[in-house]
Amino acid sequence: MLRIAWLSLAIMIGVTGLVRPGIAKDPNHVPAAKDGYHDPSNRSLESLQKPAQALNAFPHDRLGEVNWVQTLDKNLIAPRADLHGKASMKVLNQDIVMTNTKTMPHVRFPHATHTRWLDCSNCHPKPFLPVAKGNAITMDAVLRGQFCGACHGRVAFSPFICERCHSDVHAGSPKKWW
Ligand code: HEC
Ligand code: HEC
Ligand code: HEC
Repeated sequence: MLRIAWLSLAIMIGVTGLVRPGIAKDPNHVPAAKDGYHDPSNRSLESLQKPAQALNAFPHDRLGEVNWVQTLDKNLIAPRADLHGKASMKVLNQDIVMTNTKTMPHVRFPHATHTRWLDCSNCHPKPFLPVAKGNAITMDAVLRGQFCGACHGRVAFSPFICERCHSDVHAGSPKKWW
């Protein structure tokens, strides 16, 4: 009897979605009353949806952050190219492989993934001259917020998920570990 009760409770929780992976593990979540933008004395603050709740149904990466590439691939969101929703993005389907990575797998930079969200002018001519191997990018600079680090770790996925950039294994690198 007891076992059946537990079972139906478990099914109920599963069906109603009360317990979902991701909800507890938003590493960047700061309560609205403490984020420095909202007025903590405003009582309607409590009626705002919590980011972890709003983002819960989206795919997450292994650091617990939303994987926006998969979210867009699965059509879970449909960002507009302009305010009126009439323009479309100019997508460039070209990968650039960066080989100056020592024993790490090479970096495959996908123009297509970026230009579904970003305009060419977001990256050219700054922070990147539009010339393959035309920019002296180092990991140190990326971690200091330059080049890729202007976005990655700020508005795009963290520089600590190495394999999302260093995705091309080569003879001198370890095999795929992801
Ligand atoms: C946002 C993309 C991105 C992520 C994430 C990333 N890297 Fe890099 N990394 C680069 C780029 C770009 C280069 C320069 C490649 C080139 O110029 O050919 C680089 C270069 C390197 C190099 C070569 C030596 C140097 O100092 O430049 C090493 C080693 C390296 N990365 C290690 C790592 C490790 C370890 C991680 C995870 C902790 C990581 N990278 C995560 C983009 C990234
Ligand atoms: C998120 C940043 C980003 C965006 C947005 C972007 N690019 Fe790039 N682009 C790069 C990077 C990084 C490189 C490689 C630079 C290097 O290897 O030093 C590059 C290289 C290039 C190159 C040189 C290719 C070659 O073979 O020499 C051209 C041309 C180019 N981009 C055009 C464009 C155009 C056109 C758009 C818009 C449709 C665009 N890029 C959008 C980052 C971007
Ligand atoms: C102007 C902002 C910007 C710059 C600069 C930038 N990125 Fe990105 N990048 C994004 C955004 C936005 C996404 C998609 C959202 C996300 O994944 O967080 C993305 C996605 C990616 C992806 C797709 C990962 C996947 O799982 O499919 C790779 C790889 C990547 N970036 C590598 C790089 C590298 C390498 C550089 C530097 C050479 C770079 N990016 C520079 C904004 C940027």
